[in-house]
Amino acid sequence: MVVKNVTVSRPRRLRGTVTPPGDKSISHRSSMFNAVANGVARVTNYSTGQDCASTLRILRGLGVRIDVAPGKGGGGDTLTVYGVGMHGFREPDDILDAGNSGTTTRLMSGLLAGRPFQVVVTGDASIRSRPMGRVIEPLRKMGANISARMNGTLAPIVFHGGVLRGIEYDMPVASAQVKSCLMLAGLRASGRTLLRQPALSRDHTERMLTAMGARVVTDGLTVAVEPAELTATDIEVPGDVSSAAFWLVAAAVHPDAEITLSNIGLNPSRTGVLQVLRDMGTDIQVRKERMVAGEPVGDLVARSSRLRGVEIAGDIVPILIDEIPVLSVAAAMADGDTVIRDAAELRVKETDRISATATWLAAAGVKVEEARDGMTIHGAGRLGGVAGQSYDDHRIAMSLAIAGLVSDGPVRIEGAGAADISYPTFWRDLELIGGSLG
Ligand code: S3P
Repeated sequence: MVVKNVTVSRPRRLRGTVTPPGDKSISHRSSMFNAVANGVARVTNYSTGQDCASTLRILRGLGVRIDVAPGKGGGGDTLTVYGVGMHGFREPDDILDAGNSGTTTRLMSGLLAGRPFQVVVTGDASIRSRPMGRVIEPLRKMGANISARMNGTLAPIVFHGGVLRGIEYDMPVASAQVKSCLMLAGLRASGRTLLRQPALSRDHTERMLTAMGARVVTDGLTVAVEPAELTATDIEVPGDVSSAAFWLVAAAVHPDAEITLSNIGLNPSRTGVLQVLRDMGTDIQVRKERMVAGEPVGDLVARSSRLRGVEIAGDIVPILIDEIPVLSVAAAMADGDTVIRDAAELRVKETDRISATATWLAAAGVKVEEARDGMTIHGAGRLGGVAGQSYDDHRIAMSLAIAGLVSDGPVRIEGAGAADISYPTFWRDLELIGGSLG
């Protein structure tokens, strides 16, 4: 659906079952890793979001054949990925465009470093302003020859080849994108690559590479990987818990709501949002728990709840980092203060999510104080109507929409189309559970 500006108003009740798109993080990895594997693999429920399409565009630019068929019954796409092996990428005949996708840019950097040809990766205005030194610097330490704008820190990034060797590296940020980038480079490096993380971040790369035959050794905060060839592996992508989070919050804050989310990935390195919502007092049940392609999956049922403010800080932050914009809606609707700290990474996401969130909350009549690494939201159990900017950030656009489901007046979202980055069926699902769009 192409939507530019929309207005969302509070409905009397919210009911229904939503099946969010395939997980964005797992989708990116399923196509990238199978592209450099040996053999042919089928990926089902691949995310229909624009970010995951950016990954496919780049892989095709490197000579990988990927066939896409729409999924049955409105589900995600089914891919057939024809792996070219670890050394099979062809020199592209143009620059590669990662669009809005940080995961594409950073993980592909690990796959493109040290190739016997030159390749340029760039993206939209947001991507060209996000920190890339965090992958370029350690890739250079591994022997990659890379240049980039602003003294090697910003895209476009030019990969000029080099010979990769494993390194031991203390990661300055708890980032799954940096970790995954270096693990992927490590598969083609000589010797072992060992990474020490400051805190745990999502571990989909560790799980999927292991399933595809790589030797990945995890010991607390340390991850080590050895050079390896990968075996093409069929993957069924679970639903995205980060997309489910919007409906969990909607159900929690609306006075008459019960929403079921089906087929949701419940990897513990992603479910910080469940823990925080429960700590705030949300009634969430998990049903039909099962394992699918090495990842835990289940259905979630969330209901109207009376919420209280909480503190969100420390090691939980990396495992709910993408959910903080929508948790801010829960915080505003709660009784008492919610203090968010240790989340400076939010300032370098698709937009500065601390500033974007604090700005619209204040305009909606919520008392909020911004800090360098978070904010304090003084919850008073209500939100006023507001006209809010998405700043072309999908999660800000969708968080505003959830606010509109409970606010006293209508919420107008400028740049609502940004939702297509991770959740193209978001507006349809909003109507499905009883929301109305103006
Ligand atoms: C992602 C990791 C996170 C997250 C992003 C997806 C991934 O970024 O914000 O949406 O798929 O690895 P960082 O690892 O940079 O925090």
